[in-house]
Amino acid sequence: MIIDLLTDSGTSAMSSEQWAGMLRGDESYAGARSWFRFRDVLRDLTGMPHILPTHQGRASERILFELIGGKGKVIPSNNHFDTTRGNIEHSGAEAVDLVIEEGTQPRHRHPFKGNVDIAKLEALIARVGSANIPVCMVTVTNNSGGGQPVSLANLRDVRAVCQQHTIPLFLDACRFAENAYLIKQREPGQQDRSPRDIAREMFSLADGATISAKKDGLVNIGGVLLMRDDALAAKADNLLILTEGFVTYGGLAGRDLEAMAQGFTEVLNEDYLRYRLASVQYLGEHLLRAGIQIVEPPGGHAVYIDAAAFCPHIPRERYPGQALVCGLYRHAGIRAVEIGSVMFGRDDIESGTTASRPPMELVRLAIPRRVYTQSHIDYVVEATVELFGERDRLRGLKITEAPPVLRHFTAKFEELPATS
Ligand SMILES: Cc1ncc(COP(=O)(O)O)c(C=O)c1O
Repeated sequence: MIIDLLTDSGTSAMSSEQWAGMLRGDESYAGARSWFRFRDVLRDLTGMPHILPTHQGRASERILFELIGGKGKVIPSNNHFDTTRGNIEHSGAEAVDLVIEEGTQPRHRHPFKGNVDIAKLEALIARVGSANIPVCMVTVTNNSGGGQPVSLANLRDVRAVCQQHTIPLFLDACRFAENAYLIKQREPGQQDRSPRDIAREMFSLADGATISAKKDGLVNIGGVLLMRDDALAAKADNLLILTEGFVTYGGLAGRDLEAMAQGFTEVLNEDYLRYRLASVQYLGEHLLRAGIQIVEPPGGHAVYIDAAAFCPHIPRERYPGQALVCGLYRHAGIRAVEIGSVMFGRDDIESGTTASRPPMELVRLAIPRRVYTQSHIDYVVEATVELFGERDRLRGLKITEAPPVLRHFTAKFEELPATS
């Protein structure tokens, strides 16, 4: 492999200050200095009183949904990420995606395609009743929907609806800094604010958040669960102790808390955010110029290729996204990931029938933070454009083995002959 664009999660290069923090880490079991530093940084950023460290995002999700999920409950979001949906469904609850219509159309250049459709949210509340909605989630940026940002105006509207129906609002805030910078760039009236100021307002609208620190925390491992509710936090503390670790380290070492505290501070540096978003934009616009359809405009952490448009000769039940992932790897040693029917579809492998499909067949080229330079990105552009010229050679796939949940992590495939 030459370039690894499988994920931006846990793949950041840590700064010298983060590595220095690793060496300074206080490894006392309880009440370590590193814990207090971490807690203070997160409190200052989010305003949340309860800060629970976890080993990564999905551990925060598991604790939260074990406490508030369960059969009969319905949990809306713009788009749930796969582990979030998985944890909700594992608890017996139903996960519902309510992103705006523009968010499902790759060619639509809406500035905030991650926004929640307020009318759909109100209709859901009217249909299932607020008592059955223990929380409303908003994913910033919206990873499963193309890494697209959510506007402050939309967050305020979601907040107002939630408040009216006494439904807590939680952010899935893995990429809060990228979302804040896209708000600064795209939302009228926000240009003169610092990303930090915008991020703080985003958190101020929420009652809690789950965070995988492996994204905008700029670390290789770590997560956070944040909340304002004292009673819920007391229950979450107990589960944390039961399954992750004591409340002042939660499944991590003191040095990890140091690295996170530093990462959550550095990530709001405006020069860093400008460069990062510019390189994602550069990749996306160059692919578009070569006729490769992507989710427009390019999002915060990744470029999403419309695989159905890239391989029109491969039907959706033959997984065009996965075929493109294999093609990129074979052709140029570039590793990417399918976000389409493999990740979110449900089908019966035995009978070959399809139960449900996501609205788009995408391939995500996720850019690790502070790792690749412009020449690497140029290589990705050239190689993808070359493959586009030979796309007729890509072949569809069939799943031969898959687990019942989160199948994209371990599914096995067989390539089909060109005629099938
Ligand atoms: C939006 C979103 N939520 C949750 C997660 C889960 O985080 P983790 O991989 O740290 O468990 C991810 C990871 O990619 C994500 O992108």
